[in-house]
Amino acid sequence: MSFKESILSWYDENKRSLPFRDIKNPYFTWLSEIMLQQTQVNTMIPYFNRWINIFPTLNDVANATEQEVLKLWEGLGYYSRCRNFQKATQIVMKNYDGVIPNNYNEFLRLPGVGPYTAAAVMSIAFNKSIPAIDGNIRRVSSRILGRKKMGAQAQKRIRNYLEREIEHHRPGDFNQALMDLGSSICTPQKPMCKQCPINTMCFAMDSGNPELYPEKRKKKKSPHYNVAAGLIWDNDKFFIQKRSAKSLLGGLWEFPGGKVEKGETVEGALKRELKEECNIEPTIHGKAGAVKHVFSHFSIDLTVFHCSIDEQTPKTELPNTWITPNEIKQYPFPAANHKLFKILDQNDWNI
Ligand code: ADE
Repeated sequence: MSFKESILSWYDENKRSLPFRDIKNPYFTWLSEIMLQQTQVNTMIPYFNRWINIFPTLNDVANATEQEVLKLWEGLGYYSRCRNFQKATQIVMKNYDGVIPNNYNEFLRLPGVGPYTAAAVMSIAFNKSIPAIDGNIRRVSSRILGRKKMGAQAQKRIRNYLEREIEHHRPGDFNQALMDLGSSICTPQKPMCKQCPINTMCFAMDSGNPELYPEKRKKKKSPHYNVAAGLIWDNDKFFIQKRSAKSLLGGLWEFPGGKVEKGETVEGALKRELKEECNIEPTIHGKAGAVKHVFSHFSIDLTVFHCSIDEQTPKTELPNTWITPNEIKQYPFPAANHKLFKILDQNDWNI
């Protein structure tokens, strides 16, 4: 059997049954590919199912509020994916009569759509013969071709190879077969070469040490920050503000606060931040809780303090409001805040 025959017959036997597969709906394909950027399939599935239940059509997404879509995305991270996806659905409704463009270059112009996503959607939803090269496919290809260094030349070589090999009758399945092979058999560590349908065509397996392909990039050490935030109470309500659209976690809500600078105490930093951000000088009471959170490029220790204010009211340029703990569910919050809410729930909010 040829490479493409081997990989497709393996796929027909072994493909994962996923809620976004085998449904001919380009909107579902697109949504699934956006949700799968930086997110594992198993994590993404419940989010996908909840989303299509509430937004069965592209038009439903376009007409929702940003808060509604962010609330459904809450916990998936990388929230700009969600905001861009909604913007893109609005463009499709307005400029394309609600029909997702089936041309690679047109589709690529939409917010949040990069070359991988465009290739995946074009091949899976519209049968276009375009290789969709994600991390899994890059690794599988590097092993087949015996390319260790993933420089520009090797990437080009991989693209040429896949463009030549792609099965024109089933390009979406061809791409997804290689993705599934990469996530189940041709794994970064301990690949199961004996079970691989294309092990007779693999340079890296023949070399005896397939794990060496491709060469790992050295990870930069990511910075760590201490962050202080205030849970400012007014009777049974506390103060929250909405992060600006351009920032990380844009559109989500949070308690005011910020980074602890060198030489500052956590409480000192909180006082300074609350003065700068909200023009208030609160009384800081006990610690409400401390949580750790790891983002893609840095990590934080977030410490939150119960605070109260006298006559002053917070003045911030950001949209803001006062809510009771029961109203948390109506607003999208970052995962670190949810970790803190959990601690506060366990202590009955200890107000
Ligand atoms: N990762 C990203 N998209 C995928 C897909 N369509 N199938 C399997 N894994 C994926």
